[in-house]
Amino acid sequence: MKSKHVILPHDERITRWYNVIPDIPNGIEPPLDPVTKQPMGPEKLLPIFPVGLLEQEMSPERWIDIPEEIQDIWSIWRPSPLVRAGFLEKALGTKAKIFFKYEGVSPSGSHKTNSAVAQAYYNKREGVKRLATETGAGQWGSALSFATHKFGLECMVYMVRVSYEQKPYRKSMMNTYGASIVPSPSPLTATGRDILAKTPDTPGSLGIAISEALEDASSREDTKYALGSVLNHVCLHQTVIGLEAKKQMAMVGEYPDVVIGCCGGGSNFAGLASPFIPDKLDGKAIRLIGVEPASCPTLTRGVYAYDFGDVAQRTPLLYMYTLGHDFIPPGIHAGGLRYHGMAPVVSALLRENLMEAISLNQMECFEAGILFAQTEGIIPAPESCHAVRAAIIEATKDLNEPKTILFNLSGHGLLDLSSYDKYFAGELHNYDYPAEAIAEATRHLPKL
Ligand SMILES: Cc1ncc(COP(=O)(O)O)c(C=O)c1O
Repeated sequence: MKSKHVILPHDERITRWYNVIPDIPNGIEPPLDPVTKQPMGPEKLLPIFPVGLLEQEMSPERWIDIPEEIQDIWSIWRPSPLVRAGFLEKALGTKAKIFFKYEGVSPSGSHKTNSAVAQAYYNKREGVKRLATETGAGQWGSALSFATHKFGLECMVYMVRVSYEQKPYRKSMMNTYGASIVPSPSPLTATGRDILAKTPDTPGSLGIAISEALEDASSREDTKYALGSVLNHVCLHQTVIGLEAKKQMAMVGEYPDVVIGCCGGGSNFAGLASPFIPDKLDGKAIRLIGVEPASCPTLTRGVYAYDFGDVAQRTPLLYMYTLGHDFIPPGIHAGGLRYHGMAPVVSALLRENLMEAISLNQMECFEAGILFAQTEGIIPAPESCHAVRAAIIEATKDLNEPKTILFNLSGHGLLDLSSYDKYFAGELHNYDYPAEAIAEATRHLPKL
């Protein structure tokens, strides 16, 4: 019997992030000023982000050192384990080898903590006192609540209303780490009040919550804004996942044929997959697959265009796959995948055919999550169930093909059990592809 866990020794830990942007053929388009629609210099973003993060956002460097202070806090849970899902393989009757990188071991239970610690560090270094942010499923909000507390910062979280109601214990967790939380849209901001007046029953969306957090940050001197995905610096921070996974695969003499990650704003997928891009560019036969919900199919059905990251049109315009900034996705239980846009980095990887994208329905994803829990023991977050499903699809296409699959189990689902309860009670269903709503929202893309 061999150990199923591959643990990276402390002295092999990752000390530099990998920035994929210099390696993307044709690069990525610059952000545009939301008012003038002209390329936007970093100075315009100084009121909302610290210099350290803006430097990373625009960096042409391939490798960026990770400060000791960040590595020190990361050492609570990093390096995270790489696990061979042997019991799942057996249940599927496949000759494929399935490995998963397990990010649910972080204090708040997902990959989000990697970037949260980095963002809190750079803000603290520049004298910021308070951070405002949005959260979908609550994973990013709890990650930032933990990280801000470690650095002695205050934290204000706008939590998408449908998740606030579905996941009350996420709120308890954020409170435990000392943060303040309100359901979004909230009466605390002009954006929130306006949306509540027009649509009092709205489930909310990440696009709305981002607008509220940005309004909060721009209205206070002591506050900056933190985003849990999408931006280049967030994708950069998450590359620790793929860099560790590559070393761990090598420790057991393996290299993946297929790498899979679920896509909300894209940082999870970018974090696992982008360290494999140089190999792919060198001709290695490796497939990188991003998985998204069929009800919010940004990569598979979206438009590649400049769009706002939020509903109130406060963010810079980003060139990305988008369903339109005012698209409100159906209230699926994978709240962290309900975002209209996709990281410019991930969008460019798709444009360059360096990755593939697929979309899956929530019922088949929960079903896969349950099989995973019953075989490997870990109950996956609903977002991560999308990656589990995709790994099962790959492993069972041809049961005799001995391919090697690596996927990111981006978080555990222990605070998502009410969603599992609903699944067992027969109260969950698939949503039809929201063609009308998407067509309407893409009509509102900014005219350039
Ligand atoms: C467990 C989990 N996995 C994946 C995602 C999607 O992450 P990203 O926005 O980095 O694509 C989220 C987002 O909240 C999440 O909570």
